[in-house]
Amino acid sequence: MKAEVPNLGKVPQHVAIIMDGNGRWAKQRGLPRIKGHEEGAQSVLAVLKAAKKAGVKYLTLYAFSTENWIRPKDEVEGLMKLLGFFLEKHSREFLKNKIRLRVMGQIERLPADLRQKLETVMEKSAKDYEHTLIVALSYGSRLEIAEAARAIARKAASGELDPETVNEETVAQHLYLPDVPDPELLIRTSGEMRLSNFLLWQLSYAELYVTDIFWPDFREKEFLQALEAFNQRGRRYGGVVTQ
Ligand code: IPE
Ligand code: IPE
Ligand code: MG
Repeated sequence: MKAEVPNLGKVPQHVAIIMDGNGRWAKQRGLPRIKGHEEGAQSVLAVLKAAKKAGVKYLTLYAFSTENWIRPKDEVEGLMKLLGFFLEKHSREFLKNKIRLRVMGQIERLPADLRQKLETVMEKSAKDYEHTLIVALSYGSRLEIAEAARAIARKAASGELDPETVNEETVAQHLYLPDVPDPELLIRTSGEMRLSNFLLWQLSYAELYVTDIFWPDFREKEFLQALEAFNQRGRRYGGVVTQ
C-alpha cells in the first residue's frame, strides 16, 4: 500500500475497465458523440494516474471492440484519430511515469499510421517500466479464444503438442497476453450489466463493479470508490466464507 492513498487496504494488481457512456454523456449536453470520446480521453489520463498512485500494476481499458466497427464511418474515423492524437500528446508522459503500453486485439485492422504510432510507443515503453497500460483495440474475446483454439489445434496437428495434455493452462497460454495475470476487478461505467465480449476467459473470478456514471465523468474519486468497493468483497473462489 502506498502512503498517498491511505485506507485502501488490498489493491488489485490488475483492473479492467469497460469505458462506456461517452455517447450518452455527449447527448445529454447536446454535443456530437465525438465530444464524449474526447472528454473520455481525459478520464483515461485521470484513471491512469490514480491507478498508478494506488499501486495497480496492470490497467486494461476496452477502447474499441470488434463489434464497434459497425458504427458510422465518421465515428470510427474520429475515434481512430483521437487515439493517434492521444498517443502523440501523452506518450512522453507515459515514458516519464514508467508506464508500459501494450495492445490486445486485431492491430492489423487499425489504420496504418495509428498502428505505427502504437508500435513506436510500445517499443519505447517496454524498456523501463513499473506499470502496464493495456489497450483493447478491435478486441473481441470470442475471437481471442477462437484464435487460441486454432493455434492449439495447429500444434496438435503438427505433433508439437499432445491433444490429451490440453488443459486450462494451455488455453491461457495461447491468449493474446499470456504473461498478464487475470484482472481481479472489472469496472463498467454507464450502468450496463453486460460484458460485451470483453475478457470472457480472464474475468472468470473477477469482482464486477458497475456504476451509473458515464465514462467522461469517471475520474480519480470514482476510481478510488471502485477500489474501496473491491475491498469490501469477500472473495471465495467457490470455497466457504473464511472471514
Ligand atoms: C464507449 O462509449 C466508447 C466506445 C465504445 C468506443 P459509447 O460510445 O459506447 O457511449 P454510449 O454507450 O453510446 O453512451
Ligand atoms: C463496449 O461498449 C465496448 C467498449 C467500451 C469499447 P459498447 O457500447 O460497444 O457495448 P454495448 O453495445 O453496449 O454492448
Ligand atoms: Mg456504449
